[in-house]
Amino acid sequence: MSATLVLNRRDFMAAGASLVLAGGARAGEPGLGTLKAKAARKGVALGSMVAAKPLAEQADLRAALPGAVALLVPGDEMKWGYVQPRPGPPDFTAAESIAGFAQANGMGLRGHTALWYRNLPDWAAQALLGFDGARVMESRVRAVLGQFKGRVLEWDVVNEAVEPKDGEPDFLRASPFYRGLGPGYVASAFRIARETDPNAKLFYNDYGVEYRYRGMDERRAGVLKLLENLKRNDVPIDGLGIQSHLVARLPFDPKLFRRFLAEVAGLGLAVSITEFDVNDFGVEGDIAARDRVIADYARRFLDVALDEKAVRTVMTWGFSNRESWLNTFAPRRDGQQYRPLPFDVDLKPTPLWTAMAQAFDGAPERG
Ligand code: G3I
Repeated sequence: MSATLVLNRRDFMAAGASLVLAGGARAGEPGLGTLKAKAARKGVALGSMVAAKPLAEQADLRAALPGAVALLVPGDEMKWGYVQPRPGPPDFTAAESIAGFAQANGMGLRGHTALWYRNLPDWAAQALLGFDGARVMESRVRAVLGQFKGRVLEWDVVNEAVEPKDGEPDFLRASPFYRGLGPGYVASAFRIARETDPNAKLFYNDYGVEYRYRGMDERRAGVLKLLENLKRNDVPIDGLGIQSHLVARLPFDPKLFRRFLAEVAGLGLAVSITEFDVNDFGVEGDIAARDRVIADYARRFLDVALDEKAVRTVMTWGFSNRESWLNTFAPRRDGQQYRPLPFDVDLKPTPLWTAMAQAFDGAPERG
């Protein structure tokens, strides 16, 4: 385990600001006008998801990241199913390659995710339903947060625990965690997380709260109820992660989403935009037309999100359009690749980059 670097957000942002003042310019983005600089000027940390394989193989990506974003999050490399597909000691080699790159380049690190019903190894899912379930869950949380203790600014401790369609009280998902350990598993996970890494900010992370669309009112209600229960029981939680996998065809209601953000902030919680990308499935037209739709939609969303001063971190789910989970998750009917991120395949800014830049420039400063 590398030396524990005690890093808190304030020190991290101050360091970032000095980098910004120094310009932090890099090829591809205009000088002081990097997205990272624009975000930092408003007290927002801009980050990107990365995968270990492209980070190891792409020299231009390694050269671009430190000037372009302030922190990284591993896409898969910290997940339970990735590090411990079978019983036995977890293998954090790939995650450490990302953490090591971040530390070597003065970048922060986000942790994703300690507990998730997906990417959950079969052996663990079985154990959670048995007599030993609580110990198995505890050892997972202690192992992954302990491995990166003092090096992670924010952790997604629990991911996607709400699913109204499962018909459980409080809209909780009937996952192996829930069925084996009861609804209290969420609070237990946060308490163990705080004990294991007192310096990390602890987040609950979820999706499907961004739109006026069927089933999302229940999702928002379920997330708020979970957060209220956690706060009421003095559970150590610092924030809500809103994944923000935007879908350009879904109706975005600024007032509705702004109200939801205010309700979360009213609980004394920070908000992180944790997996930002823009899915233009079904949007026809040439690249320029698609990019316009993507940029306009992103700008409307970010203007609302950044108006809430509790929003202090924005992570894109990937850095460039070289790869996106969307291309395997929901291939476009026209066979074209998705363009959901602010840099193109040559790592040059896209119209989405400009929309993000305008949103950061127009956002209020955080105190
Ligand atoms: O790298 C291997 C490759 O060697 C192998 O040939 C291939 C086929 O088995 O699998 C490749 O790994 C895949 C990996 O993505 C590649 O990055 C895994 O099978 C696949 O399960 C994994 O999917 C990830 C998914 O979470 C499940 O962990 C996506 O990349 C990742 O973007 C997605 O991210 C999630 C967030 O964690 C939570 N929010 C939703 C978001 C999108 O689903």
